Amino acid sequence: MKKETALRVGFVGCGGIANGKHLPAIKGVGGVEFAAFCDIVPERAEKANKEYAAGKAKVFTDYRELVRENLDIVYVCTPNNSHCEITVAALLAGKHVMCEKPMAMNYAEAKRMLDAKNKSGKLLTIGYQNRYRPDSLYLKKECEAGGLGDIYFAKAHALRRRAVPTWGVFTDEEKQGGGPLIDIGTHALDLALFMMNNYEPAYAVGTTYHKLNKQTETGNAWGDWDPDKFTAEDSAFGFVVMKNGATVQVEASWALNIADPLEAAVTLCGTKAGADMREGVGTLRINGVAHNTQYVVKPAFDAGGVAFYDGKSAKDSDIEAATFLDAVRGKGKLYVQPEQAAAVTQILEGIYASAKSGKPFVF
Ligand SMILES: NC(=O)c1ccc[n+]([C@@H]2O[C@H](COP(=O)([O-])OP(=O)(O)OC[C@H]3O[C@@H](n4cnc5c(N)ncnc54)[C@H](O)[C@@H]3O)[C@@H](O)[C@H]2O)c1
Repeated sequence: MKKETALRVGFVGCGGIANGKHLPAIKGVGGVEFAAFCDIVPERAEKANKEYAAGKAKVFTDYRELVRENLDIVYVCTPNNSHCEITVAALLAGKHVMCEKPMAMNYAEAKRMLDAKNKSGKLLTIGYQNRYRPDSLYLKKECEAGGLGDIYFAKAHALRRRAVPTWGVFTDEEKQGGGPLIDIGTHALDLALFMMNNYEPAYAVGTTYHKLNKQTETGNAWGDWDPDKFTAEDSAFGFVVMKNGATVQVEASWALNIADPLEAAVTLCGTKAGADMREGVGTLRINGVAHNTQYVVKPAFDAGGVAFYDGKSAKDSDIEAATFLDAVRGKGKLYVQPEQAAAVTQILEGIYASAKSGKPFVF
């Protein structure tokens, strides 16, 4: 069989998510040449170059130079405030783009990214890897098959007890556009809308809280945060009514006095059945009534029990990488459409706007 030409890939932002998710995942999929790395901290780009390209890639501190290179794909892995600018530049320079979540700081930026995508004819996708988890893939199929009926109530859970990201600029409201709502609420809301296949909001009511971010005895999973640098909210809640009358509740926290955290999870209630992931990531329960009896079904995602096979599914990040690279090669479709991610950004902005004004936000 003829070997495929390697796809030439460039990275903008060589921090946590580039090293923790995309670089190992793409390397695992293969068929890729790591051709360029950019970071405003040059040592980070140099380090990635050494580890993934044996020092042979080009290294930049300015993304505008990187997007001029001969590349097929640009990965945008920088803080939220530069997603739009870098993605638009890369698309207009003729590159396919994988941009990290959230798509953008606000809906206006997301629309600029969609315009650039349409103008360039290139692919744009967003890093919502939770969609590729076995429980999410199963639930999507169940929803598409009509197993839940008409889904008219959903909860998007993104609740951490004390897990404030203390590295980079996560707690900086200006650079990120917000705190837990835009950071992890975005994953849970994406999952909820995807399962409901409903992307048309009518209005939203939101509240945001800055109640714990100035405390100094933090008990935080990643060590103490700096109260002076923690300008984003520590928790946020939204009540969203969709145009078809469905309700989506969003709950997001990095710090909240709860005993049971629950993140990147949804609860769905439809006319035929309901579903939830209340037992944590990777779990799923479908509930309903049959033969006049209430039931709960728990799909078994572990097909092990064989000496040479542990039954573990592929990692979500590996499926994400393979799906995107296949789509770039014209061998499959994107699983995360940018229009869907733009609707997530639109709703998050509406929740923030309502929290600020103290009034419902009408879309
Ligand atoms: N999909 C997920 O679950 C997930 C998880 C973590 C982070 N993220 C997203 O990834 C993005 C980055 O997060 P992170 O954890 O990697 O942060 P990070 O701080 O670890 O890394 C960001 C890197 O970008 C560099 N950078 C900043 N501005 C730049 C610019 N203009 N040009 C080039 N480089 C620049 C920084 O120097 C840093 O090395 C954020 O948008 C975040 O929301 C997604």
